[in-house]
Amino acid sequence: PRHLLDFQGWSEGRLNAILDNADTMLQVLDRPVKKVPALQGLTVCTAFFENSTRTRISFELAARRMSADVVSFAAGSSSLSKGESLRDTIETLTSYKVDAYVVRHPASGAAHQVARFSGKPTINAGDGRRAHPTQALLDAYTIRQEYGDLKGRRVAIIGDVRHSRVARSNAELLTRLGAEVVLCGPATLLPRELASLGATLTTDAQQAVKGAHAVMALRLQTERMDAGYLGSLQEYIRDYQVNERLMERAETGAIVLHPGPMNRDLEISADTADGPRSRVLKQVENGQAVRMSVLYHLLVGRG
Ligand code: CP
Repeated sequence: PRHLLDFQGWSEGRLNAILDNADTMLQVLDRPVKKVPALQGLTVCTAFFENSTRTRISFELAARRMSADVVSFAAGSSSLSKGESLRDTIETLTSYKVDAYVVRHPASGAAHQVARFSGKPTINAGDGRRAHPTQALLDAYTIRQEYGDLKGRRVAIIGDVRHSRVARSNAELLTRLGAEVVLCGPATLLPRELASLGATLTTDAQQAVKGAHAVMALRLQTERMDAGYLGSLQEYIRDYQVNERLMERAETGAIVLHPGPMNRDLEISADTADGPRSRVLKQVENGQAVRMSVLYHLLVGRG
């Protein structure tokens, strides 16, 4: 595929090639001069219709590290406020000779629309609750970095699964790469249909982490939550917070992940987030290298 909108059409071989190439990108980022000419002459547009810290900044740095020009479209300061449509916005940007788009949007399917409107390679940086493929790739990379391989590893993903594009993309990718994935949360936040992604589902966090090599806490997305999804926060913390007490039930040496941004002491305890098991900042670091690898693959590689 020319686009990375989700993992449809992506073979295990191509996904592993992106992860393998991220090793090379990490080496580039370790050099005093962190720049290679791979994307010289190309222009990447980051089009964010929803807020972001990690994804937008790491994509912009990734493109610049490879010598691309970067133009950043921020919805809040754009002519969207005057009623301009997504289609007119993308057609306007494409007229400036943008070569590739990185898109985040609150509506599921918006990245597909951008790919269609622009006709340019498009990367989904998160669309509604549907998919966030580069987050899943950097999570897979971080687990692989720890264990060498995903095959036979058990990954527990705990929290607000219902609203999480991160959970959906991870369930799809990690099972494709040979891991066992368990999705866990309160019944109201754990849609049964997600079993179709190849993951097992449980409302019991202690059961979920049993034998887990990696435990990922998900943010409670209160901004997407209708009343009634979440009961008392105290009960949520008691039953689902990723903390040292819960991690005692995981495999010895199991690591803790969180895609960020974190609600400290809500879905993850602050001491676990900052403790020796935590790979949260490693995920952030790896994100830049993995996104360099994705841009390279789509714009220079086989596409
Ligand atoms: N994990 C993630 O997508 O973070 P941002 O919303 O800050 O990009």
